[in-house]
Amino acid sequence: MSDSDQSLYDRIGGEATIDRVVDDFYGRVLSDPVLGSYFHDARMERLRRMQKELFTQALGGAPHYSGMDLTDAHRGRGISPAEVSRFTEHLLETLEEVGLAREDIDEVLHHIALLSDDVVGGTADAE
Ligand code: HEM
Repeated sequence: MSDSDQSLYDRIGGEATIDRVVDDFYGRVLSDPVLGSYFHDARMERLRRMQKELFTQALGGAPHYSGMDLTDAHRGRGISPAEVSRFTEHLLETLEEVGLAREDIDEVLHHIALLSDDVVGGTADAE
């Protein structure tokens, strides 16, 4: 298999990298003064597990995400676009810290940004 056939998931180091990224990332999010309060009642162990499955799938690894639909999971939480940006900033810092190549970081952020529309807005009564 040539490099160009390899998925982004494999190229960045597969499961070990995803585990590290998601664990480090939620450490940052939970200690963020703006974002942290969203997670006070969260089931963090499940959330990390679901996020690992989702990242794996989004980056071309096994397509086995078993969590909620993202719109349903975030509906009624009142998450603003600015908060999604802040969340994504923490992801960027994590990917830099873990030492991914610049082009891989850009690609990961691109894939995650594609999901962010499902996260924003919506009151409990929406739809
Ligand atoms: C592109 C951005 C995001 C992605 C891909 C994402 C992904 C996920 C996933 C996979 C779950 C788990 C669903 C399940 O349990 O089945 C989840 C839950 C959740 N997310 Fe997000 N999320 C994003 C952005 C955000 C932001 C910006 C916030 C708040 C600032 C947020 C707050 C939450 C909360 C509070 C839960 C529920 C946790 C629980 O009650 O156990 N998410 N998200």
